[in-house]
Amino acid sequence: MRETTTRISSAEVTRQEEFCEKISELLTAQPKEHLAYVDTYGCQQNEADSERIRGYLKAMGYGFTTDENAADVIVINTCAIREHAEDRVFGNIGALVHAKRRHPGQIICLCGCMAQEPTVTEKIKTSYRHVDLVFGPHALWRFPELLYRVITRRGRVFETPDEAGSIAEGIPVVRQDGVKAWVSIMYGCNNFCTYCIVPYVRGRERSRLPEDVVAECRQLVAEGYKDITLLGQNVNSYGKDLGLEVDFADLLAEIDAIEGDFLIRFMTSHPKDASQKLFDVMGRCKKVAPVFHLPVQAGNDRVLKAMNRVYNRSEYLDKVRRLRQAVPGVVITSDIIVGFPGETTPEFEDTLSLVEEVEYDALFTFIFSPRPGTPAAEMDDPIPMAEKKANFQRLVDTQNAISAKKHAAYVGRTLRCLIDGVCEEEGFALTARTPGNRLVRVKEGGKELIGTFQTIAITGSNTWSLWGELAQA
Ligand code: SAH
Ligand code: SF4
Ligand code: F3S
Repeated sequence: MRETTTRISSAEVTRQEEFCEKISELLTAQPKEHLAYVDTYGCQQNEADSERIRGYLKAMGYGFTTDENAADVIVINTCAIREHAEDRVFGNIGALVHAKRRHPGQIICLCGCMAQEPTVTEKIKTSYRHVDLVFGPHALWRFPELLYRVITRRGRVFETPDEAGSIAEGIPVVRQDGVKAWVSIMYGCNNFCTYCIVPYVRGRERSRLPEDVVAECRQLVAEGYKDITLLGQNVNSYGKDLGLEVDFADLLAEIDAIEGDFLIRFMTSHPKDASQKLFDVMGRCKKVAPVFHLPVQAGNDRVLKAMNRVYNRSEYLDKVRRLRQAVPGVVITSDIIVGFPGETTPEFEDTLSLVEEVEYDALFTFIFSPRPGTPAAEMDDPIPMAEKKANFQRLVDTQNAISAKKHAAYVGRTLRCLIDGVCEEEGFALTARTPGNRLVRVKEGGKELIGTFQTIAITGSNTWSLWGELAQA
């Protein structure tokens, strides 16, 4: 395995663009519309990767569809975080046999985190023979070359190099949304939490150069984007690999200084690296949204240690306190795993009491899923699934009550929100987001307001969302 980050030269990216042109020439030789379907699973990193895949596909001359039967190329961008995610992908790839039978020239590609797992690649090789191209996250920047190989040689291609990872700038992007944009600022993870597959499939932590990130954000603001989310598995360790004098807080401040009316968000932060400097910069920078996703995973010190999270309960709570001091009214959300191997119910109750103490605005909750190859998958796990499920339900009920209470406190307030879409529910016209990213359903208003900031009077709430009306200016 190569241990160091490779920076892909612009000449190599240009070479990929040449493969796009070659494919485009082949497509123009057949006068019909050529369509691609990109199906994305998993986190925002994957969404951001799919935008680059679409960028390449557009450069090759493909249009887009969400109908697998109409597609000439299907790209399934997968997630390996839990077994359930993988099962869904296998189910969907299995079902594509029928689409391919109806459309024999169809090319099926599998990429993303699952593609980087040797067991998955083996299974695709032997049991899913209708899949033509498999490439891991490290090979994404070479997608045009790989697809060209499939098109011209009619053979299957497997490209899943095991490496520390690379960074390629200048890949074309087709964004899914005109208001919100994802910007990956770094890739990979060095933390090796014992339950987690990400470091194995995404490689080592590596940061994009600050000037590249700032230039991309400046471009997005110029194009009218209003909500920019900076992405990384652990954004707080941004820059550590660069050997420069710039950390994540400095990067945020630089982006905040870009002229324009827009919001900056970021995810995800590992609590061990969430620094006072970052909290202070957030408190000072007006464009940085007052929202912090700070995954705790568990509230019990023995479990946190077994997870290799490198902080304990009281250190975590101390960070939450300091964050709230620096950023008054900040919305705090978290991820929690219930049923880590050996977690007893009294240990789980420490998670419950932490949740009650912090009072998160929202939680993402998961039942532990053993990932082959990670240390936790080898740990003794005597706790019955029924007990884990009961604990999980207690956590969900506790959080629902907190979310409902927190949302009720918005009623009667007037907030500057970003209108971000049409609301499909009866009685509502638009959706909007508070600065802290809570969903607001807006009763009346035209589509032309999408992408603008509006003052909204909050008139009602439930566990999951708020609703309100455009306030008279
Ligand atoms: N880098 C982020 C999280 C990435 S994965 C961080 O450090 O917080 C998103 C969430 O999935 C994790 O926070 C964790 O709660 C959950 N998760 C990861 N591996 C899991 C597993 N094996 N079983 C259940 N949940 C898991
Ligand atoms: Fe996984 Fe931990 Fe890295 Fe997050 S910090 S991606 S949970 S190993
Ligand atoms: Fe899934 Fe890979 Fe993201 S495993 S959660 S898509 S980094």
